[in-house]
Amino acid sequence: MTIMKKTKITPADKIINLDKYIFVELDEQKQEARDKGADLIDLGIGNPDGKTADFIVEAAIASIKDPKNHGYPDFRGKAEFQSTIKEWMEKRYDVKLDSDFIAQAVNGGKEGIAHVSMAFTNPGDLNIVPDPYYPVLTRASWVAGAQVYHIPLLDENDFLPDLDLIPEEIAQKAKIFLVNYPNNPTGAIAPKWFLEKLVKFCTEYKILLVSDLAYGEVCYDGYRPLSIFAIEGAKDVAVEVHTCSKTFNMAGWRVGFVIGKKEFIDAVFALKVNFDYGTSMIMQDAAIAAMKMPYDSVEATMKKYEKRRNYMTKEFENLGWHVHKTDATMYLWLKVPAGRKSKEFCKSVMDKTGVVFTPGVAFGALSDNYFRVSLVQDDKRLEEAIQRLKVANIRYEE
Ligand SMILES: Cc1ncc(COP(=O)(O)O)c(C=O)c1O
Repeated sequence: MTIMKKTKITPADKIINLDKYIFVELDEQKQEARDKGADLIDLGIGNPDGKTADFIVEAAIASIKDPKNHGYPDFRGKAEFQSTIKEWMEKRYDVKLDSDFIAQAVNGGKEGIAHVSMAFTNPGDLNIVPDPYYPVLTRASWVAGAQVYHIPLLDENDFLPDLDLIPEEIAQKAKIFLVNYPNNPTGAIAPKWFLEKLVKFCTEYKILLVSDLAYGEVCYDGYRPLSIFAIEGAKDVAVEVHTCSKTFNMAGWRVGFVIGKKEFIDAVFALKVNFDYGTSMIMQDAAIAAMKMPYDSVEATMKKYEKRRNYMTKEFENLGWHVHKTDATMYLWLKVPAGRKSKEFCKSVMDKTGVVFTPGVAFGALSDNYFRVSLVQDDKRLEEAIQRLKVANIRYEE
C-alpha cells in the first residue's frame, strides 16, 4: 500500500462541496446592518412571533420536575406520545391510523426530514423536489450524496408541480419525492386531485413520498389541509412529517414526529439510533399537552396571521404587486421588479428601508425572480414596514 502524506486536516468532500447555507449569509448581512445602527423590521425569518401557551409551559415544568424524565428517553417516543399522535391525526385530519402505523419522535421537522432523506438515499441516487423549496428538502439529499431533480412551481399552475413534465428516466430513477403543502415559501395549498395524482405517481414508480405538513394548522378562511393519509393508497408509499413549531409557537422547543407505516419508520429509526437518543421526554410531554389542549389558542394565532395576511396583501397590491392569494402559511411570495435578481433586490430594500425580505434564490436556483415576505411582526411593525416602503418608493414595476 502506498502511503499518501496529508498536507492538512480537511472536512469531508460533501461539506467542502456543499453550497453555503444562504440563511447564514443573510444573518450576517442583518448583523452588519444592526451593528451600524439600523432598526430592521425582519420579515425575512419564519420564526413565529407568538409565545407558547401557558399550559404547555406548565406541562413542561411539571415534566422537568419528575425525576423519571431525567434519564434517556425511549428512542421512538413514549407510549403516551404515540397514542396522542394517533388521536390528534383523527381529530385534526380525520384519518384513522391503524396499528400498522407508527410515529417516530423527532427533534423538529427539519431534523425529521433530514433523517428520512438519509435513511432512504444512497450516494448517486436521485430525489425529486419542487423549486422553490424549504432548504432541508433538497440539502439533506445533497449531504447524502444524491442528486436532486427540481421541478419549478409556477404561479400559472397554482404553485403545484406538473407531474406530467417529469421525464420518464427521472421518474424511473427517483428514490424520494419530497413535497411541502401548505407550502413555504409560496403559501400554496394542495387540492385533493393533486395529492391523488402524486400518490398514483409515487405508487407507479416505487418512490417514497415525503409529505412535510409543517403548516398543517396555519390556514385561513376555514380552509383545512389534507393529511396525505386521507388519500387512498398513500399508506404504502408515504410518510408525513409534523412539527409543533408553527402550530403551537414552539419553534425553540424542537419537537415533532414522522408518521407512516412501520416498515418505513423502522428505517428512520435504524438511522437515528446511531446519532441521538431520541427526543427529550420533557419536550414530548409539552407536545402531548399541546396536542390535547382546547383549540382556542391555536385559532387565535391563526386569526392573527390571517389579519396580517389581509393587510399586507392589500398594501402590496397598492404598491403594484400581484399577490397570489394564500389560504395558508404565514408567507407572501412576490415577484421582484423586472430585470432585478432576488438577492440584489432584497439587499437594496434592506439598505434603503431596514425592511428585511428573504430572496427567492434562498429557496432554489429556479426562484431567483421572487422574494418571500414573512408575517411574523405585530400590526404596528407591519404598518411601519409598509410606510417605509412607500417613502422609499419601493414598488413593483414590469
Ligand atoms: C416547510 C417547512 N418544513 C419544516 C420546517 C421545520 O420546522 P422545525 O424544524 O422547527 O420543526 C419548517 C420551518 O420553518 C418549514 O418551513
